Amino acid sequence: MNTPENPYELFDRWFADAKETEPRVPEAVAVATADANGRPSVRQVLLKAVDHRGFVFYTNLGSRKATELAENPFAAMNFHWKTQSRQVQVRGAVEPVSDEQADAYFASRARSSKIGAWASKQSQPMEGRGEFERRIAKYTAKFGVGAVPRPDFWSGFRLKPDVIEFWEDRSFRLHLRFSYEKTATGWQITELYP
Ligand SMILES: Cc1cc2nc3c(=O)[nH]c(=O)nc-3n(C[C@H](O)[C@H](O)[C@H](O)COP(=O)(O)O)c2cc1C
Repeated sequence: MNTPENPYELFDRWFADAKETEPRVPEAVAVATADANGRPSVRQVLLKAVDHRGFVFYTNLGSRKATELAENPFAAMNFHWKTQSRQVQVRGAVEPVSDEQADAYFASRARSSKIGAWASKQSQPMEGRGEFERRIAKYTAKFGVGAVPRPDFWSGFRLKPDVIEFWEDRSFRLHLRFSYEKTATGWQITELYP
């Protein structure tokens, strides 16, 4: 494998390959968080931005993941692109994105998704689908034809990696595996047993 000095270069290359071949949502990624006692939970989200600062996703701030991140601001991500036989693992601290970045992303969403964000009490118990539909109708009426602002309980998080690990399938289980660990001066690349 050609290993550039900067892991984001390799991530961008692999992500571009995945966008060419994955039949659905190549930007889907598992995000693991843990509560204050270290008990983990994991779910899929959509990667909405990646740059040299890290990996960004958006969610409801009352959700389990957001509650856990408030208690324990570390997370791990795992991309598995089956059509590429590749996996990328990311580990590090998490920070909230700026209000400006969250506003800009929220503004880009479809109107129905914006209304859905207002209507969903994500991760809370719900008394049947009807309750959700009534809430959607309520917010649809409330905003009418005007702009739908970002709810203050909905925003994004950036996972700032200390480690990004790349795995690629090879015959006879001789898989390739490279870890990039962040140092004071750059990234240290280590090849690992697969
Ligand atoms: C492919 C896929 C993408 C998803 N993307 C998001 C997302 O970007 N943000 C989000 O809050 N939930 C997303 N979900 C729903 C989450 O997996 C999860 O059900 C929800 O966020 C509540 O998780 P929590 O209770 O662990 O916080 C997605 C689910 C799937 C299957």
